[in-house]
Amino acid sequence: MAISTFALLVMNTSDVYILGIESSCDDTSAGVTCNSIVLSNIIAGQRVHEAYGGVVPELASRAHQQNIIPVVNEALLHAKIRKEQLSAVAFTRGPGLMGSLLVGTSFAKSFALALGIPIIEVNHMQAHVIANFASRPGDEQFTAPSFPFLCLTVSGGHTQIVKVMSHAQMSVIGQTTDDAAGEAFDKAAKLLGLPYPGGPLIDQHAKTGNAHAFKFPHPDVPNLNYSFSGLKTAFLYFLRKETSQNPDFIKEHLHDICASYQYTIVQVLLEKLQVAVEQTGINTVAIAGGVSANSYLRSAMRQMSNDKHWKLFIPKFEYCTDNAAMIALSGYYKFPEKNFATQDIAPIARYPF
Ligand code: KG4
Ligand code: ZN
Repeated sequence: MAISTFALLVMNTSDVYILGIESSCDDTSAGVTCNSIVLSNIIAGQRVHEAYGGVVPELASRAHQQNIIPVVNEALLHAKIRKEQLSAVAFTRGPGLMGSLLVGTSFAKSFALALGIPIIEVNHMQAHVIANFASRPGDEQFTAPSFPFLCLTVSGGHTQIVKVMSHAQMSVIGQTTDDAAGEAFDKAAKLLGLPYPGGPLIDQHAKTGNAHAFKFPHPDVPNLNYSFSGLKTAFLYFLRKETSQNPDFIKEHLHDICASYQYTIVQVLLEKLQVAVEQTGINTVAIAGGVSANSYLRSAMRQMSNDKHWKLFIPKFEYCTDNAAMIALSGYYKFPEKNFATQDIAPIARYPF
């Protein structure tokens, strides 16, 4: 492949090009960064899980195996660079589904070995935080958060308040004691008869609903922790009661149900975040993870930040849900340390910070 004019313009011997590989759950993704700029971010979703109401690990691993090479090819093409220009390959080591992680890890190791370049292991949850630093060529308005800041990371498997001291130094100061916020969305959507993943669909239906039509309980959890399993159970009993009296209840009230349920989740998330800001005295706040794509959470965060005079950072939509740009970018920030992984590295399904 010929080197493009763009690549020639930006190429500099000190430029660091990282290929990021993400395969922790049901999205196969590859992305390329040049220093701190994202050149490409290709994501292949897996529709095979829709019919099952959740991710089927065995099917996810097979789909990653099918998708990984085409996705990497596409990422290099979009970035307009040759693989020989890469400085390193960064990959998600965990947390995630073991079978899925193995595909990305094995690919990263063999690709880097063939090219004679180092590999960099990345923690998926830290990478979600790093998504707040992702900008594209020509994003002149972009400003990254300054340290320290708090990040509300809300995904399908995690709900965390993270204190971020630097690109490398982060600590979880609050988290869910049971279900994650994304799970609360997806499980409620399943009860409403919506396909997986239901979070974005609840978001859509909620847009024309009344958020105060129905009331759901707020959990009472100490410290900066969360709990969503009680809310999920209350939602189940609520639907059971209403549909026993009116079998068409869901159909007739879908928008109001979605808006009220979504409102409760977002209020619960913001209440604890507010306490975290008060306790730490840190008022630079960011959000990350799949649920941060939720339109009501984004607007409620903007509103709260205005009212409380917080400095707010929200990643671009494509960097909220699982993506490899955030993995490549995490690799870029780790690259100067030269703390590279060795070829005997293995993924870790439960990988703490
Ligand atoms: O970060 P992510 O892509 O994968 C994990 O690391 O888990 O998050 C996926 C979660 C799913 O639960 C999905 O329903 C939720 O993010 N999600 C949303 C929205 N978009 C994705 N939840 C609510 N509203 C959305 N717009
Ligand atoms: Zn994720």
